[in-house]
Amino acid sequence: MVKELVNIIFTVISEVGDITVVKSLNIAHRGFSGRYPENTMIAFQKAVEAGSDGIETDVHITRDGEIVVCHDEKVDRTTNGQGFIKDLTYHEIKNLHAGVNFGGEFENSTIPNIDEFLDYVKDKNLLINIELKNGIIEYDNLEKRIIEKIYEYKLKDNLILSSFNHYSMVKVKELDNSIKTGLLYAANLYKVEEYAKKLGADAVHPYFPSVMKEDIVKNIKNSKIAINTYTVNEEEDMKRLIELDIDGIITNYPDVLGRLIKEADKNS
Ligand code: G3P
Ligand code: MG
Repeated sequence: MVKELVNIIFTVISEVGDITVVKSLNIAHRGFSGRYPENTMIAFQKAVEAGSDGIETDVHITRDGEIVVCHDEKVDRTTNGQGFIKDLTYHEIKNLHAGVNFGGEFENSTIPNIDEFLDYVKDKNLLINIELKNGIIEYDNLEKRIIEKIYEYKLKDNLILSSFNHYSMVKVKELDNSIKTGLLYAANLYKVEEYAKKLGADAVHPYFPSVMKEDIVKNIKNSKIAINTYTVNEEEDMKRLIELDIDGIITNYPDVLGRLIKEADKNS
């Protein structure tokens, strides 16, 4: 069975003879964050080992202009440091322990910069989802700088940018219409496919309860908008979303989701 990422990067196509089966992509949220320190290199490596089809991660900019991979605006929750990323230098951030919530086991883990992340994923045939964390702090030129990185690492075909800041997603399209964008939202936007079309987006990235209904999924997919839903950690929810043919399922547990996708594939 051949598994490859196709140009519409949101679906995996398995070819068996001349039968084509489309199934959901397994996207690791902040890497394999259910079992390893989120948004660290070990979490990304373990996601790949677990068989993820894709990786989701979050980015901010330091005081001295480095793009770093981290979820929160502050380093307090995930490291032994304190303060806003925007107020710290990259050197200060690099000296922090990013495995602090996992005891001594991952004490060498640090906050990666964007180059460490992209250099690791670039030749792994993964769907990369970079979430621009510019909903609270609007980092100068984050969109332009990330687009430059996408070209530097030749990742355009396998990468989608997303954000809760939809002005930012429009800005991405204005800068380069060929970069794929996904609109993050938390709940039940009415006729979201019409909104997404208006913004030129390629995908919607809803919190999963918003797309648990067949007609909602159908309307979005009929509009040629992909659906990548977050953050799905319970088996029952994963199963339902696989049944609904959701394009990408973002999870902290790519091992569990991978097993369920395989089982669904066998039974189909
Ligand atoms: O991109 C999906 C998901 O990561 C959005 O929420 O807060 O986990 O970044 P959050
Ligand atoms: Mg995120």
